Amino acid sequence: MGEDELVMDPWGSAQSTDYDRIITQFGLTPLNGAQMPNATKLHRRGIVFAHRDVDQILEAHRTAQPFGVLTGLMPSGQMHLGHSMVIEQAKWFQGLGGDVTIAVADLESQATRGVSLEKGRSIALQEYLSHYAALGLDPEKTNVYFQSTRPVVQRLGFQLGKRTNLNEFEAIYGFTGETNLAHVQAPLVQVGDILHPQLDAYGGLRPVVVPVGVDQDPHLRLTRGLASKTNWFNLKESASGGVMISLSIHDENATVFGQLPNGRVDQEKVTSVFDKVVDAVASLGFSDIMSSPKQGHVRVPSATRRDTHGIRTALLHLERSLGGMGLLAPSSTYHHFAVGMTGDKMSSSQPKTTLFLRDDLATVEKKIKRAFSGGQSTVEEHRRLGGNPDVDVAYQYMMYFFEEDDAFLAELNASFRSGALLAGEMKQHCIEAATRWMSELQEKRDETAHLVDTFLAEDSR
Ligand code: TRP
Repeated sequence: MGEDELVMDPWGSAQSTDYDRIITQFGLTPLNGAQMPNATKLHRRGIVFAHRDVDQILEAHRTAQPFGVLTGLMPSGQMHLGHSMVIEQAKWFQGLGGDVTIAVADLESQATRGVSLEKGRSIALQEYLSHYAALGLDPEKTNVYFQSTRPVVQRLGFQLGKRTNLNEFEAIYGFTGETNLAHVQAPLVQVGDILHPQLDAYGGLRPVVVPVGVDQDPHLRLTRGLASKTNWFNLKESASGGVMISLSIHDENATVFGQLPNGRVDQEKVTSVFDKVVDAVASLGFSDIMSSPKQGHVRVPSATRRDTHGIRTALLHLERSLGGMGLLAPSSTYHHFAVGMTGDKMSSSQPKTTLFLRDDLATVEKKIKRAFSGGQSTVEEHRRLGGNPDVDVAYQYMMYFFEEDDAFLAELNASFRSGALLAGEMKQHCIEAATRWMSELQEKRDETAHLVDTFLAEDSR
């Protein structure tokens, strides 16, 4: 690893905001939010800024095929504004037709923050789910479960752990010899969280998207790598056009794929597998399929990039019918972090850096008044030089959380930059917007309190 490379630590307090560099280094794809269907303010304003494979989700939406959304919550401390961003996105995906699964990371919280499972449960319900309901997530289309009481999640993590090692964990998370093993186990449980909705008992094979802050990307890199390593069929866009399918032979499928223990190959078995691949692809309507078991591949010359998702899905179904897990690598979207109110990182353990969703209006007002300002130190200077809305917390909080009206926001931005709008006036606008938003949240929270239990999946009641 080069010295200037970022290592992201999902548990750490440091946070890189060099988003261009993050995109390049980790191979994310920039997201054009304005082009999203029913774009939310987070999309319109470039706050959700990158993704991996979100196309397969949008394609599922376009063709009215099922897709899932998975996110998780760490039950420790109070829910704050930053946490609401993922819920806004989950709600948006829900509106596009996705089914939502939410993991309560009670095992992770116990292991890394010392929160008991019991305490984790009550925090999840009282702090988080009550606000999810208030924020408009539909409990009928949402399943919340606990890591500790869904054994298949842990089993899946354990099973996939076989396909990684400490070197990979060092590369992805920057772990060293001193790393606590709870931090080694937690990512594997999270792998189970992310992949298990594809199991037949939890909705079956379908694309699943995970909306996260970039600090969680290491988990997605790990999960995507592990899912791909289990796959029985490789799919490649071939240089000469079209798609090429080959077998990925490992312990689990050696027998099915006709690999004899003495190193010889049972040609009949191989042929039968290739015939099944041809059938699976033919059922999608392709007629130009070229099967060459001897060379070890099947070519579909007329398949385009658009077709790869359908072909991959058909092969995963085939894999499942032959005894494999048939796991699809998850999609993900990434959002920028809102700055903390002090100008530092937003953190639950530093109450001054954020607004908690249960803060009363007087506290909200006080925190905004004291928030870091992008204005100049005197009025004269401000009028002359103008302010910087990019670092002005009051402006940023309207943009991220409180103000839906793009035109009004643009006006505030311009007049602050020109010096016409003073820092104190910007804060006043923010206080008004925040008061409206928080009062409405409070009202909704009371109205929807009776719905909280209906979020819980059957195994979690
Ligand atoms: N690790 C996440 C956090 O610290 C919580 C979490 C657990 C999660 N499982 C997940 C997030 C799956 C996204 C997807 O907040």
